[in-house]
Order: sequence, then structure tokens, then C-alpha cells
Amino acid sequence: MEIVMTESPAEAAECVAKEILNALKAKPSLVLGLATGSTPIEVYERLRAAQAAGEADFSQVRTFNLDEYLDLPAGHAQSYRTFMEVHLFEGLGIPPEQIHFPPSEGKNLIQRCQDYEDAIVAAGGIDIQLLGMGRNGHIGFNEPTSSIRSRTRIKTLMERTLRDNARFYAEGEEQPTLASTMGIGTILDARRILLQAYGLKKANAVRACVEGPVSSFFPASALQLHPNTTCFFDPEAGQYLAMTDYYRATRANKQALADSGRM
Ligand code: F6R
Repeated sequence: MEIVMTESPAEAAECVAKEILNALKAKPSLVLGLATGSTPIEVYERLRAAQAAGEADFSQVRTFNLDEYLDLPAGHAQSYRTFMEVHLFEGLGIPPEQIHFPPSEGKNLIQRCQDYEDAIVAAGGIDIQLLGMGRNGHIGFNEPTSSIRSRTRIKTLMERTLRDNARFYAEGEEQPTLASTMGIGTILDARRILLQAYGLKKANAVRACVEGPVSSFFPASALQLHPNTTCFFDPEAGQYLAMTDYYRATRANKQALADSGRM
């Protein structure tokens, strides 16, 4: 894992957006794995700004979202599809048939979760997977005890996750307790993973993810098994890490090798 200690979420978002935009230049039909939640919003703002400025063309991009609530009515304000429309897709120029979500309603859910896996493979696999992380270590909706080799499936959301997301629902409004999500195994198949975590409320999770043991009880720790993951933290989220000096030195050395044309 590469750990990048940034000064602010804005600096991190700039790095992440830049990497995506560079990858898009190199491969116009880039396959992106996308997350919802507050963490990636600044990245999405930068991607939209690049498109609006005519600096990026998303027309060939294929996207696969990590997760979606089960049985929210189409167009519901809290569905992840709505979130993505509002924060990224609107006006970005990705044809609707190139945008994919795991199943969110209806029958044959096991088969349709498998179809989602098959669609990712048919697209050639995910080039860049964006991730946020829950305070309990969930990535996508892979709650603690999710198998490290799990694939797209239906998950029951934990009480704590429901509480964290309750702020988005009106009082008395029913909150979904089930969701479909890519599995941890699905996520680990991505060629590149960019995880972001910001703020004091994520500090314990960041420490467990990076410096704790690999455990299905803390799903984000499974990223330690991935050969090409970079984690971006702000000072608050990174404050309980034991080896920040080493992470900074590693980053500086990598940059120096790149600047001198040796890497
Ligand atoms: C959402 C997702 C979740 C979030 C996580 C953090 O698609 O995959 O794992 O990344 O719950 O949420 P925020 O960013 O709101 O703190």
C-alpha cells in the first residue's frame, strides 16, 4: 500500500482527479469503479470541471458503481443512482448504457449479481476503483465479517452504518436495510485502487486499515493484499498512524526517482 499524507481533502482530491484524467487521456474507454458518499465528491467536481472546460472526454468511459440500496423507488433522492447523477453523471457525456449499478430491485438477485460480475469482466475489468471507507471499515457495503474473496451480492447493513446514513432520511421515512454491493474479491480484482479517508471520525479506521492485521472483521484491511493501492488521508484522518514519517519519505523518494527519469 502506498500512503499519501496530504495537507487537506482538496489536495488529495486534486491528486486523485489528476490520476483519473491522465488515465483517461491514455485510455479513452477507461473502466471506472465508482463510490458514493461524501468522500469522493470533490474528485467528481474536478472531473466535471475538466469536462466542462473541454479538457476531458468521457464519452467512451464505462462505469460500475460499488453498491446500491435495495428497493428504493426509482429516482428516490437517497438512491446511489440519484447521487451519481447529481454529483457526477449529469452533463458528463457518458452514454447511459455505459453506466452500471448492481441490482436494486426485482427478482433473481443472485443471478443478477452474477450478471454484474460478468459485465465487469466483459468490459475488460476495472482500471481504477475509487473507494471511501466506513468507520467500521466497510468498503462498498462489505460490512465486517464479509469474506475477503466475496463477490457481488446482497448484504444486510449494520446498525452503525444505518445510523451513519440516517441523516439523509426524513424523520419517519423508512431506511433500506439491504443493499447490493461488489464483493471484496471484486474490488481486489481492479488494476488500481484509490482509497480516500478524511476527518477525525475516520482516524481509527485509517489506522486499522493500514497498520492493523488483515481481517474480514475490518474489510478495508483486505486492501493490504492488493499490489497497486494508494490511500490518501488528510492530517486528521492520519493522526493515529504510527509510521507517517516513513510514508512521507517513501512518497518523496518515489517522486525523486520519477523526476530523475529513473522510474
Ligand atoms: C458508498 C460506499 C461506502 C462509503 C463509506 C464512506 O458507495 O462504497 O463504502 O465509501 O460508507 O462514506 P462517506 O464517504 O460518506 O464517509
